[in-house]
Amino acid sequence: MTSNKNILKFITCGSVDDGKSTLIGRILFESKLILDDQLEVLKNDSIKVGTQGDNLDLALLVDGLSSEREQGITIDVAYKYFNTKKRKFIVLDTPGHEQYTRNMVTGASNADLAVILIDASKGVLTQTKRHSYVCSMMGIKNIIVAINKIDQVEYKEKIFNSISDEFKTISAKLNFSQMSIVPVSALKGDNVSIKSKKTKWYKGKTLLDILEKSEIKRHKEQSTFRLPIQSVLRPNSKFRGFQGTVSSGSISKGDKILIQPGSNTAKVKEIFYSGKKINKALTDNAITITLNKEIDVSRGNIFTKDKEPCEISNQFQSKLIWLDENDGHTGRSYIFKINNQTAGAQISKIKSKIDISNLTDTSGNMLKLNDISTVNINLDKDIVFEEYTMNRSLGGFILVDRFTNKTVAAGLIQFSLRRAQNIFEQNLSINKNLRHKLNNHKSKVLWLTGLSGSGKSTIANELEKKLYERGIRTYVLDGDNIRHGLNKDLGFTDADRVENIRRVGEVAKLMVDAGLVVITAFISPFAAERAMVKEMFSEEEFKEVFVDVPINIAEKRDPKGLYKKARKGLIKNFTGIDSKYEEPTNPNYIFKTDKLSVKKIVNSLLSGEFNE
Ligand code: ADX
Repeated sequence: MTSNKNILKFITCGSVDDGKSTLIGRILFESKLILDDQLEVLKNDSIKVGTQGDNLDLALLVDGLSSEREQGITIDVAYKYFNTKKRKFIVLDTPGHEQYTRNMVTGASNADLAVILIDASKGVLTQTKRHSYVCSMMGIKNIIVAINKIDQVEYKEKIFNSISDEFKTISAKLNFSQMSIVPVSALKGDNVSIKSKKTKWYKGKTLLDILEKSEIKRHKEQSTFRLPIQSVLRPNSKFRGFQGTVSSGSISKGDKILIQPGSNTAKVKEIFYSGKKINKALTDNAITITLNKEIDVSRGNIFTKDKEPCEISNQFQSKLIWLDENDGHTGRSYIFKINNQTAGAQISKIKSKIDISNLTDTSGNMLKLNDISTVNINLDKDIVFEEYTMNRSLGGFILVDRFTNKTVAAGLIQFSLRRAQNIFEQNLSINKNLRHKLNNHKSKVLWLTGLSGSGKSTIANELEKKLYERGIRTYVLDGDNIRHGLNKDLGFTDADRVENIRRVGEVAKLMVDAGLVVITAFISPFAAERAMVKEMFSEEEFKEVFVDVPINIAEKRDPKGLYKKARKGLIKNFTGIDSKYEEPTNPNYIFKTDKLSVKKIVNSLLSGEFNE
């Protein structure tokens, strides 16, 4: 058995010119003698590493936010090793620019300690506050504040004290259990590993000394056995091994394990570690396990001990950091990834956002790049998880955009919301199929989307008349009408439009269940919401109809005089003018209303959908 406990993983955070690289360079330089000859030892010690230029790829050791790596996104986090006589170190170096919060988050989710750099000539910046908050949120309990470039302020104690005081006031809200503040000059080498004669007023230790002696306390982290399965090995028909890195606790040969999700149990037959058979594996060990019986296990399953299972839920309160230039909205559908498990997800509520200037809670109805918030998240299925404070790798997740496949947010599960488990669906005796029989036709949705003035309402109206003549039960849901009633609380911001379409989707779903043919006429400008509504129905039940018209023609028609007002600036967020319309990429029907008559369009829908 091997433990990585004497390795300190730390992250350095700072703004662009705070001198992060210089500091890391200085640390590496001052411990260089040790670096060269012992690097090999560390490499072979307990961690499997591959080389990637100058940096080492620690994919097997680094655990938190593993889904982020699975995404195959280049995260600009460089892992550097160095040794001193007292300790082995891994520095997770992350770029400091605003838009690299993503890298910082990934780094912080893996680190035990953070070195937060402050430029003595600039003091505490917004970025410093954000980084400190992220470190705290990601579970880092130990921090070292390096007030750098102290030489540039003539080694003045007064400046050091005033920055220290400001930082202490802010960090009082952040629950760090150990904090040291050190005046350094990375460039000149003051107080990095050698105590500076120029800061006689400073009675504390050097930065390196603190790094060597820091005792790592991980908040609440538990010793319960958890092994998320990364891959199933089947080199030949006899051997079936399950590979993963023990994320907490330990496991011994002969132990009874539970395979989650599900209730299958088995006993551990063999444990392989670094090519050898061992009797017991500890946290952070990358191992392969064989079991005493054939059980269906796949990537994403979690091995736990029989009596100490992980939680299972589909609703959480979470902390979330928004990482995308496109705003995040409640009600929009994203892909949720946690430890090789995937589910459809919606942010159901933004409970609060952090005001970075003073680290207090504010409210907000959408999420902007770098926003940190507390949200409720709904999933479309149960997942196996652990609260983040209990286990960082089983409680950290990402949200991925369904269309671009980009990671839009990183989050951590605070706790499960149990509501879902107490709301049951009623099984009623009269169902959709019986209503279809009674009506003599099936129910479905024809979802008309297009610019204002494209002709959606006209087509809906004419089509409904024809269907009525044929004895088909219909209902038209029209933007202008619904916005006078059910949705009269909604305007035309992106967030409101998302909610508008979400509600209309739910209403359409009820109507389809009630046996009706529903024709909807909403601009529905965003692909994400149209896709979300589509997923609520079967393929037969939902038809997307793109009512296509060039904007200049819609504007010429201007049936309600709204384009004219929008051009004058009297209406804000007008679709096609200062609010976007995302054209359907794969609709069931496209009708160019500047070329086709309403009659032709209606006939084409009738023959395509109602030739029963
Ligand atoms: S959607 O974007 O949320 O789908 P919806 O179809 O409900 O919009 O409502 C669009 C109708 O509201 C338009 O046909 C127009 O009559 C009116 N309207 C008022 N303000 C706007 C605006 N800013 N953008 C678009 N339509 C507007």
